[in-house]
Amino acid sequence: MRTERLDARHARDVAALHGQGGFARGWDPGECAALMADAVVTTDGVFVGSAARPVGFVMSRQAADEAEILSIVVTPAQRGSRLGASLLGAHLSRLAGRGVTQVFLEVEEGNVAAERLYRHLGFREVGRRKGYYPKTGGGRATAVAMRLDLA
Ligand SMILES: CC(C)(COP(=O)(O)OP(=O)(O)OC[C@H]1O[C@@H](n2cnc3c(N)ncnc32)[C@H](O)[C@@H]1OP(=O)(O)O)[C@@H](O)C(=O)NCCC(=O)NCCS
Repeated sequence: MRTERLDARHARDVAALHGQGGFARGWDPGECAALMADAVVTTDGVFVGSAARPVGFVMSRQAADEAEILSIVVTPAQRGSRLGASLLGAHLSRLAGRGVTQVFLEVEEGNVAAERLYRHLGFREVGRRKGYYPKTGGGRATAVAMRLDLA
């Protein structure tokens, strides 16, 4: 397993992985490429063996000394093997190296795997937003806002 910084050349892989995340809204490759080319956006991928394509990615956007996790997905066949934890851990170290002291994210209430992953890395709940997420089957879900202090 290895983690590596991804650039816009991986936009198709990232869009495809995002599509496996179960989110209500997908990302098209063009949208991904634009995000990944933005200087304040950092995207890391996790690779298994010598494969050229990542099996997971995490993306965040930085503003001054704060960053927001925009998305993290591990392909379904590889979940539960600590790839998500390794990937997010490496990403947070990279953000710290770029001067980030606080990291924020929102996770859908009831997304047990993601919440456990974030708590494992030290994130703590700082609030809830009712009706924040549109659900794939209709209706809206509560977002749990979380924060991690890196400094
Ligand atoms: C969230 C996600 C990235 C985690 O990746 P992963 O490689 O499976 O995670 P890991 O194997 O590193 O496990 C991390 C933690 O989640 C827990 N976990 C993993 N899969 C789980 C599951 N299906 N149910 C409950 N807990 C689970 C692990 O036990 C571990 O918890 P611990 O540290 O307390 O022991 C992955 O499940 C995923 O891609 N989900 C769909 C996209 C998504 O929801 N992204 C988050 C949006 S906010």
